[in-house]
Amino acid sequence: MAKGQIIAGLDIGTNTIKLLVIQKRNKEWEVLSYQESSSFGLRKGSVVNVEEVSKIVQSLILEAERSSSRKINSVFVNIGGSHIYTTPSDGIISVSRANQIISQEDIDRVLQATRAINIPQNEEVLDVFPKEFVIDDQKGIKQPLGLRGIRLEAKVLLLCVFSPYFINLTQSVLNSKLHIDDVIPSPLAVSEAVLSPQQKELGVALVDIGASTTSLAVFEEGNLIHLAVFPIGSANITNDIAIGLKTEISTAENIKKQYGSCMIQKTEKVKKEDKLISEKKKIEITDNISTLSFTKKDLVNIIEPRVSEIFDLVSKELKKLGKQELLPCGIVLTGGGAKITKIKDLAKEQLKLPVQIGKVKNILGLEDDPSLATVAGLVLNSADENSVEREGVGKIAGKLGSMLKKWFRAFVP
Ligand SMILES: Nc1ncnc2c1ncn2[C@@H]1O[C@H](COP(=O)(O)OP(=O)(O)OP(=O)(O)O)[C@@H](O)[C@H]1O
Ligand SMILES: [Mg+2]
Repeated sequence: MAKGQIIAGLDIGTNTIKLLVIQKRNKEWEVLSYQESSSFGLRKGSVVNVEEVSKIVQSLILEAERSSSRKINSVFVNIGGSHIYTTPSDGIISVSRANQIISQEDIDRVLQATRAINIPQNEEVLDVFPKEFVIDDQKGIKQPLGLRGIRLEAKVLLLCVFSPYFINLTQSVLNSKLHIDDVIPSPLAVSEAVLSPQQKELGVALVDIGASTTSLAVFEEGNLIHLAVFPIGSANITNDIAIGLKTEISTAENIKKQYGSCMIQKTEKVKKEDKLISEKKKIEITDNISTLSFTKKDLVNIIEPRVSEIFDLVSKELKKLGKQELLPCGIVLTGGGAKITKIKDLAKEQLKLPVQIGKVKNILGLEDDPSLATVAGLVLNSADENSVEREGVGKIAGKLGSMLKKWFRAFVP
């Protein structure tokens, strides 16, 4: 059978580096290879040691090439870390054609104009997300191409990154002898994998709880309206358990995954007694140092405040946007941190919004693991040619992507 087009996504996470390779076959996307490795050389979602990350990337690529018998030349890679932020901006131009019909060149020019803002010297604008265009005071225009006007204005959200971390990230991929198809901010990759166009239209917040970062992306009317990354994640819970139970990190990690919960079970009256007993029942575990004895309730007392702290940060950010309790499609949780028992209930109670755990769309076999949402989004971002987003935002991101591609190629040895 003929070999189809392949797409590779590389999620450089603080806990795990994940590589997903998919292939188009009969109009469907199928997984050719999935590889992961514990990660080194990252701090809080940012690459701080290029060589260490590059070594891991190379071994993942080798393994994927071996298992799929295909050559991987390029990857879509994510950028994470709390140095990423968005800021609103706008730009105005005069329409260039004598007949006043707005051309693609006018749109490119007005979007370019929005980038002319003052940001610190070691930061750069990575992406531009249009919210609306204004033609001669007519607001709320999504697609100005072909419309008539004298003055064209764009209101956008600029996505900015700390340049040294951006360079470290790209260098760690380029040093692995790979081209970069595009660099996609992690929360946007996740959104591509788990959110529907309807959710983005009505209003939704995506919260990805990774190992050491929690990313937030808020959408309304189909547009990204806010993005933020907090330097706190599920590894903080592991640390809290290690301190609370006086044990090693590896034991604490296993305890978190096996017994951890962030809420006391609230069940019907009849069952209440049983639940209380099981929550008070001693669990005994022997690690390298000693025998640990704790109850499920002890664990909830350690875990709940940390998860609650994460939702507090989300809540404050939504409040700043004026969207607290006002997102019809509520909260979608992803990331390995979303696997902790009862997280949906705690989020619902605290954020007072509907909550669901994100499911990866369109790639069979990945739907039950929310920690694969980022890597799935990286490949779906380019695979989903019919997405509504690619008509507007994505088209522009794609343009920037191809500009980046040229630039990256210049670096490839
Ligand atoms: N069943 C589980 N219960 C609780 N936590 C879990 C579970 N499975 C995985 N985790 C946690 O999820 C985290 C890893 O998630 P993920 O792979 O999304 O992080 P990452 O992408 O490497 O990190 P980041 O996005 O912060 O850079 C780890 O801290 C791990 O302990
Ligand atoms: Mg992650």
